[in-house]
Amino acid sequence: MKNTAIVWAAWVCGLIVSLPVQVAAQRLITGAPLSIPPILEESGSEGRERVFDLTVQRGTREFATGTQSATLGYNGEYLGPTIRVRRNDNVRLRVRNHLDEATTVHWHGAHLPAEADGGPHQRVPAGDTWEARFRIAQEAATLWYHPHDMGTSAEQVYQGLAGFFIIDDEHSDSLALPDTYGTDDIPLVLQERRFTRDGRLEYNPRMPDIMHGYFGNALLTNGAVEPFLEVSDQRIRLRILNGSNSSLLRVFMDSGIPMYQVATDGGFLGRPVEVEQVVLSPGERAELVLDLRGQEGTRPSLMAESNGGNTYTALSLRVAAALQQSRELPATLVRRETPTDTGAVRRRDFVLSSMGRGGRLTINGRTMDMSRIDEQVKLGTTEVWRISSQGMMMAMPHNFHVHGLQFQILRMNGSQPPPHLRGPKDTVLLYPGDTVEIVLNFENYTGVFMYHCHLLEHEDEGMMGQFEVLP
Ligand code: C2O
Ligand code: CU
Ligand code: CU
Repeated sequence: MKNTAIVWAAWVCGLIVSLPVQVAAQRLITGAPLSIPPILEESGSEGRERVFDLTVQRGTREFATGTQSATLGYNGEYLGPTIRVRRNDNVRLRVRNHLDEATTVHWHGAHLPAEADGGPHQRVPAGDTWEARFRIAQEAATLWYHPHDMGTSAEQVYQGLAGFFIIDDEHSDSLALPDTYGTDDIPLVLQERRFTRDGRLEYNPRMPDIMHGYFGNALLTNGAVEPFLEVSDQRIRLRILNGSNSSLLRVFMDSGIPMYQVATDGGFLGRPVEVEQVVLSPGERAELVLDLRGQEGTRPSLMAESNGGNTYTALSLRVAAALQQSRELPATLVRRETPTDTGAVRRRDFVLSSMGRGGRLTINGRTMDMSRIDEQVKLGTTEVWRISSQGMMMAMPHNFHVHGLQFQILRMNGSQPPPHLRGPKDTVLLYPGDTVEIVLNFENYTGVFMYHCHLLEHEDEGMMGQFEVLP
């Protein structure tokens, strides 16, 4: 694998020249306490099902004093509550669409029946309701939910539709990791956003924004700019989601605080991996544990640098003068087999291209067609998919997201993936010229699922395809 830092530097510099860097909106409100999305209360249980209700609604938010922005939220004005469930729970998620346009609610990273996925085939028209019913059939992980209708996902996510979906299980209960939600276990959705000079949230993509990324001039952390968090534990866990539309984010601490990655998109790593930074593409998650011993009374910051060229303070920590003792980080988190291709019945190639005819964004030369099934796979089998990113003429990063399952990375550019990418993944970043091989097991559910680039402007432009799991 290429050295991430070098690749990253080349990217950021390359882009600064070609992109209009806007003057950061001066009047944005900063320095409020970090808002922690509330845990969604069950509306009740019917039989053996836990019932949850989400209402998709319009709202407004004052990001700058005196200026209202139009926003969207789940059960609120911007973002949504955290859905927190346990493995083997039967859930029934009821969605009411109070917008004047269609939407869907997709449970990103969840292993579930196709009809519960919330992709473009599960459209919820304006004013309508929809229900997803499924059993939580996967290990503890930090997933998320967001809209996924054809052509409108980017704008709806941008305006605020996103929430966490956290799964716990007996194994995660037993691990000595920080797990007090909102105190030492903190969900953080980072979203690069563009504000007008008067501080209004704006979504007005032009061709370069669609192709290269809808970069911004501010970073929202759980919906606010540069919030702070008071911490009084020796170790804290950050569940970080890159909720940007198309910006890659390099996340790091401004001081030498030891940082360990403990989980990828869909579950724990085999063991904690000490990292100096994590690079997350849109839709990817990482769980980090920070060791704050020796930082008593200081104010270190979590930083995020976008490949659009701006560096932001994502969160400032106010570390208490005395810290409560945290348990030692476990040496082993989970038993995780090294993926191999020995059981694979088939290999497939997926070429992400931004060249093609007229600079179109395609996968294997095609754009998304809801009535076309691109790939058929067989239930109960294992396959290796080789994804490569071409288009050096219009070089841009892409990523590859698969619905309905978690995969493992077999090889990146011919080598074993770096230790921090050896956990369950549902989204993987590709720089131009990269090739990534992933191992997928098609278990439990038949039906039609999507794969796509999760840079939302690319997805909306049709950089997406469908695979059907056949019995
Ligand atoms: Cu996060 Cu197809 O989605
Ligand atoms: Cu998804
Ligand atoms: Cu893309």
